[in-house]
Amino acid sequence: MSRKKWWQTAVFYQIYPRSFADGNADGIGDFEGMLEKVDYLKWLGVDAVWLSPHFASPQVDWGYDVSDYYQIAPEYGTMDQFLQFMEELHRRDIRLVLDLVLNHTSDQHPWFLESRSGLDNPKRDWYIWKPPRNDGPPNDWFSTFGGSAWTFDPQTGEYYYHFFFPQQPDLNWRNPEVKQAMFDVARYWLNLGVDGFRLDAVGTIFERDGHPDHATGDHLDAIYRDSRLAKTKAEQRKANRRWQRMFRHQVDMPEVHDLMRELRQVVNEYPEKVLIGETEDVRFYGDGEDELHLNFNFPLMRTDRLTPRWVRLNQRERLSQMPPDAWPCNTLNNHDAGRMMSQFGDGKHDLQIAQVNLALLLTLKGTPFLYNGEEIGMVNHLGLKVEDFRDPLSLHAYRLEVELLGCSPQEAERFAIEYGRDKCRTPVQWANQPNAGFCPADVKPWLPVHPNYAEGINVRDQQEDPGSMLNYYRRLLHLRKNTPALMEGDYQPLDENNRHVFTFLRRTKNQICLVALNMKARPAKTVFPYWLKNLRCVFSTHRKEGQLERAGFLTLQPFEVWIGVVESF
Ligand code: NOJ
Ligand code: CA
Repeated sequence: MSRKKWWQTAVFYQIYPRSFADGNADGIGDFEGMLEKVDYLKWLGVDAVWLSPHFASPQVDWGYDVSDYYQIAPEYGTMDQFLQFMEELHRRDIRLVLDLVLNHTSDQHPWFLESRSGLDNPKRDWYIWKPPRNDGPPNDWFSTFGGSAWTFDPQTGEYYYHFFFPQQPDLNWRNPEVKQAMFDVARYWLNLGVDGFRLDAVGTIFERDGHPDHATGDHLDAIYRDSRLAKTKAEQRKANRRWQRMFRHQVDMPEVHDLMRELRQVVNEYPEKVLIGETEDVRFYGDGEDELHLNFNFPLMRTDRLTPRWVRLNQRERLSQMPPDAWPCNTLNNHDAGRMMSQFGDGKHDLQIAQVNLALLLTLKGTPFLYNGEEIGMVNHLGLKVEDFRDPLSLHAYRLEVELLGCSPQEAERFAIEYGRDKCRTPVQWANQPNAGFCPADVKPWLPVHPNYAEGINVRDQQEDPGSMLNYYRRLLHLRKNTPALMEGDYQPLDENNRHVFTFLRRTKNQICLVALNMKARPAKTVFPYWLKNLRCVFSTHRKEGQLERAGFLTLQPFEVWIGVVESF
């Protein structure tokens, strides 16, 4: 019997509801669509769903601007449909984790409408209001999404603070009523039976008391420009450091950890629930038991190419920084980051590289998070036009490209697509039929469908093809589930100077598993210690499984994934 918790052995699958499946034929994904795909999720072999926000929202930031935490967005369906979706997942042993946005609400949330209605309103202090300074904003802070972090409200003559878009006012978490109101929200969904929360933007929940100026004299647009024009990694890093200095009073305040401990207590009132932080900061693990259960290893994906050296270094740093009992959590993309095929490819071997990278994600120590559509090898949609843009960040970047960098409209479009997030949020491609089977042919999907659905990048075609990416995902997920060492084992790197092959062990008391990933486009050898001689191949992209390897080394084909289990030890 495994002593690990379900969220340690599970593979999570992120559903971006708007783009997953449209059940009622209006071009927008919804619960009806999700419900139809529950069997597909079971067939694929995932264990838990992380659902991006499904709450009522004006959809400025596509659900990350909640106007009612107790209601379902009407275009996604009804509460009954939500409950049915959860029940059908649970019936299949798939857990459901919701996306809880704590830092801010929508500016249409009744709390904010009340708060802005008058200086004496009881909810005034639920948000962060300040009087003007010299007829301008109260301080020099920026919003990470562009422009000042303060928006003037003529009704009361004061400014309110927003780390993100102006339509996403930050809650004042120093007010105990705010905390109680949000804890009530958490309890409401836990009482309904959800299995936990992914916590949005946890690092932004508190700001420095007194709101001092960043006083760097820098401008966010200048950082954008310099980072865009950076020619070297060093220049890029310099721009990142400027960003960090500029935002140092707005993120990662120590107070947030007291709050996370309190939230953990709330969640602990229920058995077996999980909290996952949208943060890479290992301090959110607390002492390993008292804050968040999982925090994303985002540094792993911060590269153009995953190489053995990169991954070894990442693992060494990450695992040594974490408290002893904390559990890692790995991912290579989500609705904010580009698609794996596009992000880490070399333009020639994108498919093979994506396969190696998936094997990496599913064999590294920790809980893996997959993003919908990755399993068929969807790519970034770079063919979008300005009029297709739905992410306000794409439009913001477009304006900066034209006004700040003097780009032509075509160039601006190209860069804005890369900068914005629409490129990886296009509808999931279900079949080789108009609109990829996401919605009917005569309906316009909310974001254009990538045309490569007609070239085999769709679920139905790939289900029938044993050699497809989809069946590759399925095989690997199945293998993981049947190989305890891959789910629970320790991590031990081997052959550490090898520049081509990333080789490591995962081991439990009863099983030792060796993983060898050739991350390069040429054959390469990996060697391991003498006692690892009786290795039974349980998975390979290139050779027959079941074969016994006794040589103490392996010569791998370009981009070969090889996984073996030690027969006797
Ligand atoms: C992180 C979410 O993943 C992103 O999509 C959103 O724009 C911001 N938080 C603000 O909620
Ligand atoms: Ca719909």
